[in-house]
Amino acid sequence: MSARLVVLLSGRGTNFTALQQAIEGGWLKADIRAAISDRDAAGLALAEDLGMDTVRVDRRRHPDRSSFESSLATAVAGYAPDWIVLAGFMRVLSPGFVEQFSGRMINIHPSLLPKYRGLETHARALAAGDSEHGASVHFVTPELDGGPVISQVRLPVLAGDDPERLADRLLPLEHRLLPATMALLTTTPVELRHEQILFDNQPLVEPLLLGRDLDDHGRRTGRNHVQPG
Ligand code: GAR
Repeated sequence: MSARLVVLLSGRGTNFTALQQAIEGGWLKADIRAAISDRDAAGLALAEDLGMDTVRVDRRRHPDRSSFESSLATAVAGYAPDWIVLAGFMRVLSPGFVEQFSGRMINIHPSLLPKYRGLETHARALAAGDSEHGASVHFVTPELDGGPVISQVRLPVLAGDDPERLADRLLPLEHRLLPATMALLTTTPVELRHEQILFDNQPLVEPLLLGRDLDDHGRRTGRNHVQPG
């Protein structure tokens, strides 16, 4: 059965495109029911070109955050999604909104969480002198970028990296991580219980690392994979 996805985005939509390509490639059994944005994002135009439903819930057309989020929640819920994927959605969502979709909403964030929640993650990794950087896919909980991490991808920081170069090298890895993670989530029973991720009722002890614990098509591999009972 095909999982119903709603993608929330605010920008270029390259991660959205990566998801769509995985679906077209036949290995992500899902269907993007709608792309929804809080602004006039380039990613919405991409979705429109694909003939997909697009919805723009403009923050500036709402008097306050609560009415904005109420419109956003109505738009999202109208598609009855199995999963809500934040792919470059650049608004902080209130606990009330998040709780409405708890356990069904994930986000891709350009850092090795719990490092560097929030913005300017590449610059902050460089400023800290980190030798590794990466991206994480995590469940969205009321704490900003603080929900349990499902999967990560890592890359070495190279001499001469600046924030742009680091971001450019990370992006293609994000495009592998997000669809692989969605493939996993749509093929394995998963539950978020008290901030703990359970796959097939087995707690996930550490984030799945792409290339070590998770392959590009979302199959679990390696030492982190405990076969259920
Ligand atoms: C991606 O790098 C994603 O990790 C980041 O925004 C970019 C969106 O690019 N997300 C965040 O920073 C969320 N805090 P895209 O529009 O090309 O997919």
